[in-house]
Amino acid sequence: MNPSHLIAALIAQTQAQVPLPSPDPLGYPVPAILLQILSYFTLGLHFIAVNFTLGGLIYLVWTKIRKVDNGASEFLSSSLPLGFSYLVTLGIPPLLFVQVMYGQMFYSSSVIIGAFWILVVPLLILAYGMLYLNKLKKDTRPNTRLVILGISLLAMLTIGFIYVNNLTLSMTPGMWMEKYTANPAGSQLNHGEPTLFARYALFMSPALVVAGAALVLVGILRSKWRGDDAGVPIHELGMKGHLIGRVATLAAAGALISTLPKEFLDTLMAGPGKLFLIFGVGLAALSTAMVVVAAQKKGTVFGIIGIVLMVLEVIMFIAVRDFLRQIYLAEFFKFEDVPVHEQWGMVGIFVASMVAGLALLIVLTVKVSKSAIARYKESHAA
Ligand code: HEM
Repeated sequence: MNPSHLIAALIAQTQAQVPLPSPDPLGYPVPAILLQILSYFTLGLHFIAVNFTLGGLIYLVWTKIRKVDNGASEFLSSSLPLGFSYLVTLGIPPLLFVQVMYGQMFYSSSVIIGAFWILVVPLLILAYGMLYLNKLKKDTRPNTRLVILGISLLAMLTIGFIYVNNLTLSMTPGMWMEKYTANPAGSQLNHGEPTLFARYALFMSPALVVAGAALVLVGILRSKWRGDDAGVPIHELGMKGHLIGRVATLAAAGALISTLPKEFLDTLMAGPGKLFLIFGVGLAALSTAMVVVAAQKKGTVFGIIGIVLMVLEVIMFIAVRDFLRQIYLAEFFKFEDVPVHEQWGMVGIFVASMVAGLALLIVLTVKVSKSAIARYKESHAA
């Protein structure tokens, strides 16, 4: 038997042993590349919203523990519920894409850890509710607030952990049978997955980076509006957190690389993943440089450029994350195996509603920010 036949026979044998559902027989409505691009873009927005909200909550808890009121807590308390609503809304488009592109893997892993997966819904309600309670509560006892915010933070961190468990399991169909037979009730997580904790750290640490940059910008704006140094403690806190977040993310990336199977890493670096990784790292360095310059020169424009570069950076890393998923799944599934039955009309409707939805979000955000700014200026008028 020649080597290529042997490999094909081995793959067929592995596939036969893994109870992998077949892809949707209706196929993809557009070529996979277009689905990938749309999913990277929408997941990028989801991750930015997750990072802003989670990171903002960490800064808020920190200011409450340290009992410092530097003005950051006022901004965070009022904007985190909004951030949470964005992360949920912006999570739905990538949820549609992951179901279309990797549905048979994503559904299977969701069932295997079903009890924890369903827990995401009450945890979301709890985390969101606590942020509103904190915003609307008149009682200013610091310990009560700390408990409320602590519950929200714990719930958010748990949701993130459940997502990482589900996504890693969806990439390793070879583990499904063993896990399912050991615990058909689904009350298990993806224990034993070597990349689990490093990957979790890699997805959670950018929260400090993104929310830190936002605080730098808010601090600069506050000083500008009031014509004094009122915003300095806010932008200093943001700057410190941003840099700590960058170091933590680097450490988590190193830990993830050390736990990835070597052959997967080699395949990733031999393909387009390498290019996206280089772009991502370059954008990360540039965006941090912009945030540092913004903090030093108190320049709003630098801060905005830094944040835009950060969004692009996240999208680059999301592409790398997806290339890695394809490498993990290569022996079980490839996009090329799925027929494409083009339905451009449907895609047109999707893109039009996405653009309209995003435009609406932008208009609403501008309106809410304008009225918050007006309230802030009014309440701090000399
Ligand atoms: C506190 C709330 C949330 C947190 C902390 C969070 C965090 C995360 C994390 C860490 C991942 C990456 C997991 C990995 O690749 O290992 C992820 C992926 C994802 N999240 Fe969220 N998430 C939250 C809420 C939501 C909600 C409410 C939705 C949907 C409405 C959502 C939709 C998604 C989707 C679809 C993916 C994976 C997309 C893909 O693999 O292509 N998330 N989330």
